[in-house]
Amino acid sequence: MKEILTAWDGEAVLIRHDAQTGAVIIIGIHSSKFGPATGGTRLMKYNTVEDAIQDAQKLSSGMTYKFALADFPRGGGKAVIALSRDLLPEERHGLLMRYGSWIRQLNGYYYTGPDVGTTPEDMDVIATTGDPYVFSRTPANGGAGGSGEATGYGTYCGMKAVGAHLFGTRTLGGKKILVQGIGSVGRPLLGYLKSEGAEILISDVDERVANDYPEYAFVTPARVYQTPCDIFSPCALGGILNADTIPQLRCKAVVGAANNQLGTEADADFLARQNILYAPDFACNIGGALAITGMEAMGWSKQVAFEQVSRVEQTLTTIFTLADEQRINTHVAARNLVREKLNRIQ
Ligand code: NAI
Ligand code: PHE
Repeated sequence: MKEILTAWDGEAVLIRHDAQTGAVIIIGIHSSKFGPATGGTRLMKYNTVEDAIQDAQKLSSGMTYKFALADFPRGGGKAVIALSRDLLPEERHGLLMRYGSWIRQLNGYYYTGPDVGTTPEDMDVIATTGDPYVFSRTPANGGAGGSGEATGYGTYCGMKAVGAHLFGTRTLGGKKILVQGIGSVGRPLLGYLKSEGAEILISDVDERVANDYPEYAFVTPARVYQTPCDIFSPCALGGILNADTIPQLRCKAVVGAANNQLGTEADADFLARQNILYAPDFACNIGGALAITGMEAMGWSKQVAFEQVSRVEQTLTTIFTLADEQRINTHVAARNLVREKLNRIQ
């Protein structure tokens, strides 16, 4: 445990055991230097508490990186609610209420929103006890609703930067794009890609999505990495770019919304050696957090929020240029840019 804590450069790991459900709630605060630590709540089963702590650490670091790249005055935080068993709806409700009370006790040290396993409806529940530290409630409860559309839009803007860098055109028409994970981010992303006339392929562990989109070729999860395409877009799980999958890839670029796509940082070099342009996940997937916190905490209109999200394209262009000039991989270039921005405000 000590190693897990000392290996991380973050500010704090807060842990609480929920006796009623056996769940362990972990709040990772990577940095509150840029502003109050903000990030979603991930609710799922984990094999060990150590796995859950490391996930909270990595995910909260990612939030610091995202907000810093967007020059947005928020810090990086993330909560993981690690379940050890399935919960009945009333047990889950009670857990979220107790979690909200804890967030309120933290008095603004951590603000939350949705992430994998939680929804705007869950934010409504958490906010009953956690208000005013909860973003992304349903519109019926005064929130801006889900974050998937803005994240999908930012990811699409990221693809334009890749198009300009690799193919000499921002237009994605005719480009073969394979989206892995057709959920709250993947679905709106498909809409943006369709509007440009991209050739779309979809993949999901839930094969029912093929029925929702009969017009697109469905790729089974078993074949997703070796399927040839221009852009592979991971919008499901983290850790999918690793020593096993990278040699299989037949794409020219990876641009997706999934958090923590790299198995290890060294996998960014592996991708570069395979001549695959990697758009760092934390540069692509800021859309939801930026749009929602901008609209709810800064009074942005939806139009202003989406204009801000579109800056993903410029940020990635800068990252690609830095990587080329300094002969470093794009992940390191993005990380250096974050450090430079953070140093400037310290
Ligand atoms: P979601 O849960 O709505 O959708 C995920 C989809 O991926 C589901 O359709 C699921 O069946 C599918 N899936 C799960 N495992 C898979 C696998 N092994 N292969 C193929 N498909 C698989 O999640 P959401 O909100 O769309 O998020 C997707 C990713 O983007 C997550 O990693 C999340 O952390 C990240 N992200 C989401 C943001 C948001 O605003 N929702 C913001 C930033 C990052
Ligand atoms: N799940 C979002 C992300 O990973 C976090 C978020 C969404 C934070 C909405 C605040 C509001 O970026």
